[in-house]
Order: sequence, then C-alpha cells, then structure tokens
Amino acid sequence: MSFYVTTPIYYVNAAPHLGHAYSTIAADVMARNMRQRGEDVFFLTGTDEHGEPVALAAEREGLTPQELVDKNAPRFVDLMPRLNVSNDFFIRTTDPEHKAKVQEVLGRIRENGHVYEGVYEGWYCPRCADFKTDAEAGEDHLCPIHKLPLTREKEDNYFFRLSAFQDDLLKLLDEQPDFVMPRHRYNEARSFIESGLQDVSLSRSTFTWGVPVPWDEGHVFYVWFDALLNYYSALSYARPGEDLTDRFWPAQFHLIGKDILKFHTVFWPAMLLAAGLPLPEHVFVHGFLLIGKDKMGKSAGNAIDPFNIMDEYGTDALRFYLMREVSFGHDGAVSEEGFRARYESELANDFGNLASRTIAMVHRYRDGVVPRAELDPELAAEIDGLAGEVCEQLDRADIAAAGEAIWMRVRRLNRYVEEQAPWTLAKDPARANELDTVLASLVEGLRVVGVVLHPWLPESTGKLLGALDSPQVELECARMQAGRLGAISKLEPLFPKP
Ligand code: MSP
Repeated sequence: MSFYVTTPIYYVNAAPHLGHAYSTIAADVMARNMRQRGEDVFFLTGTDEHGEPVALAAEREGLTPQELVDKNAPRFVDLMPRLNVSNDFFIRTTDPEHKAKVQEVLGRIRENGHVYEGVYEGWYCPRCADFKTDAEAGEDHLCPIHKLPLTREKEDNYFFRLSAFQDDLLKLLDEQPDFVMPRHRYNEARSFIESGLQDVSLSRSTFTWGVPVPWDEGHVFYVWFDALLNYYSALSYARPGEDLTDRFWPAQFHLIGKDILKFHTVFWPAMLLAAGLPLPEHVFVHGFLLIGKDKMGKSAGNAIDPFNIMDEYGTDALRFYLMREVSFGHDGAVSEEGFRARYESELANDFGNLASRTIAMVHRYRDGVVPRAELDPELAAEIDGLAGEVCEQLDRADIAAAGEAIWMRVRRLNRYVEEQAPWTLAKDPARANELDTVLASLVEGLRVVGVVLHPWLPESTGKLLGALDSPQVELECARMQAGRLGAISKLEPLFPKP
C-alpha cells in the first residue's frame, strides 16, 4: 500500500516557530509508523514563497522577492533535519517544476470551463493574503485574525467558479464523512459550504510576485491556488527522471492547522474536481498551540523558538512533548514549565529509568546476558496488543491516544519491576528461574515499547535498541519473544536530568 502524508507549506517571511514544528513532527510520526509497517511512504513538507506579503516584506528590506525567499527558506529547510523528521522531499513553490505544474493544472481548469474574467471589489488582508467577506470584515473593517485594517481592493481578476461546486462538495462530505477530520472540523467545513459559496479570485493583477497566468501576462495566480497545488506538483519532480504521481496520488492525509481549513476543505477539493483529479482521502485539522489563551505565532509576538529547546534538551524531548502535551485535533497550551515537568516525569523517570534499571539489572545479576527463559505470559499478553492498537489510533491520526497506549505499557513495566522485585529474587538461588523470567520479560517488554515508540523518539529508541542488540524497528518485531535475548551493552541515561 502507498501512504502519502503532507504538512502545510510554511510562509518564509517569518522565522520557524513551535507551531510549524508541531504540524511537521505529527506528520513525521505518522510517516515513520507507516514505514515500520513496510508501507510505501512519501512525506512532503516545504515552503510557500509567493504572494503579496512576501513582495511587501522584500520591499521593506530592499531586496527582490527572490532574494528574500532565498535568504529565508533555508531556515525551514534546516529545521527538518534538526527536528529529525524524515521528509522525502522539501518543496519550494519557486521551484520551476512546481510553477509549470501550476500553469498546467490551472490551464486545464480553465479549459474545463471553470474560470471567467471579472472585476473584484472587496476587503483584503495582506497578511492573510486572503479576501474577506463583508461579514468577516465587520463594521470596523479589521482582519478577524490579525486585527489589522483591511484594504479595499478593486482590480481585474480571473475568477474560479467555486459556487458551481457547492452540491458536489456536500455530496463529497456525505459520501466520505472522514474527508475532514476530526468531526467538529467536518461540521465547520460543512456549515461553511451550506452557508453558500461565492466565486473566488484566481489571479491578481496589482503585483507580479507569483506564478504567471499563462493566458494573460498581466496576472499572476492568487497565492493560495499556487500553494495548494504543491501537494500534487511535488510528486512529478521530487525524484529526477521519475514521476511519482501515479504511485502516491491521491494523498492519504493532509495535516493542517485550523486557520487554513477553508482553503483545504473547500477550495482544494473544488479545484481538484474542476481539474478532473482524484481527491485526497483525509484532511486532518489540528488545533493551535497556545501561550496562555492566545495562539502562538509571529503576529502575537509570543512564538517559542524550537531551536532553543532542542539545544538544551535534545530533539526527541521536543518531539515527545509536542505530541503528548496537546491532543491532536484540539487547542492546547504549551509552556517551558510544562515542558520541564513532562521531561522529568515521563522521559527521565518513567521511560529513562525503566531502561536504565532493566539494563543495569541484567548486568548485575546475569553478567549482561539476557537469560533464555519463558516469558511472563500475563505481561506478554498486555504488551503484544500494543503495536496493533497504536496503528489503529494512528490510522485516525489520533497521535495522543496512540501515545497514551504506549505510556500505559511503560507504566505497566515499571509496576512489573516493583511487583516482582528482582533484587529480592536475586538473593535466593532457588528462585533463579523466576529471576530469569522476570529479566527476560522486562527486556522484551522494553524492546517492544522501544520499537513502537520509535516514531516519537527516533534517536533515543535507536540508542536503546542498539544497547539491546536488537536494532530492528519493523513493527513485525514488536512482539514479545521476537528479540534476540543475548548479550546486551550498557546504556548511558537516555534523558539525563539537566
Ligand atoms: N502558507 C500557508 C499554508 C499553505 S498550505 C498549502 C500558511 N503558512 S503558515 O506558515 O502561516 O502556517 C502554516 C501552518 O503552521 C498552520 O496551518 C499550522 O499547521 C502551523 N501553525 C502555525 N502556528 C501554529 C500554532 N500556534 N499552533 C499550531 N500550529 C500552527 O498558512
């Protein structure tokens, strides 16, 4: 089976912050889990580089727009390896291949009769690069997101006949109720469509920083149409000399933040229908990371820099915190105190200590060789269900539930240590077999948890599995007794207390 997962492509005129890291890490957990299952995976992320906000920022800095994006895009390109995400390609919408594909697909939409010329007059937020309805503009004509004054725009535009797709989109939501996930976001998309769709601008003619409209030189495509097509265009040129479109299109999951729901659940499927292309399976809409009660972001000036946290605590700790602290699909507050608390209680204590003391006991009582013994059948039954459970949760993008299923096992293994008290068994030579069983069961339990947890903590589970001399991370190894049970190495603390 093929599995294609995407993140939004990020605007380059702000520095990467924790919110960008959040979407990207979530996609990485899903992609890595699918690779562990032996699926054919493609994971895409990238940057959104056209549009008026970029042109305006470049002007302020005395650069050309191309110079500005070339200066800023590397901050996002470099973020990916720092986050240890396993993206298969990084798209930049200024790539010539992307631009050609945008022209091709939008040209096809026009040939199919869904484009007409007209005059646009209305309210526009240059920060959102989005036109606002009168209801959104309100009486004070402020952007509801940025609280900045909207500008009144009047210009020649090409329009996309979005209104013609109202019935098709409702039918799509009827027939594919998990096209938009989770349910409360499905309802939001549905009521947006039911409230009546207006045609939307497909092009802009007052500036030139964008993909040129091939049939009219005075226009560039409206940045959102250009940006959305990244998900489709990337497959055609990500591998030189190879077109991956048939292999991976349609995508299984677009992961997005709730701020861009309208574009992904209304514009995007309508565009694909207009072009005669297959629709993605799921758009999963996650919530916002909050600082107190406010959205974290550049506009609010409260953005947390992911690089600082990674410098101090490591990449795995950041990945783990974000995936565990905020339930995927809902808003959630983040803070440095919250980060430290979870690091200490779950990574250092629950997981790190379990690993250290299990390995230390094998060295102390059995000279570093895991005994070949019967495993505890009760414990084995509880651990063996884990991989299946986690896959089921991740198939619904319920990353928090998957994380909790794993943590139940981590806690279970810690209780097992306390209940069995290997240090007592070790004092009584008559109970050597029991001790063998306890040690072998613990090592196997720890190894299985390490395999299943690998997408969250790729680096530290790699170290752990290496120490256990069972580096395989395929999910078919996530069963008790699939490990090697031989000599194991010592392990430095995985999550040292800072
Ligand atoms: N360029 C557009 C997306 C085009 S996709 C075809 C854009 N870029 S963005 O850089 O402003 O934000 C993109 C995404 O970053 C959001 O949808 C969300 O996934 C993530 N986040 C940005 N701030 C966030 C939070 N405070 N919390 C969680 N995610 C947030 O919109």
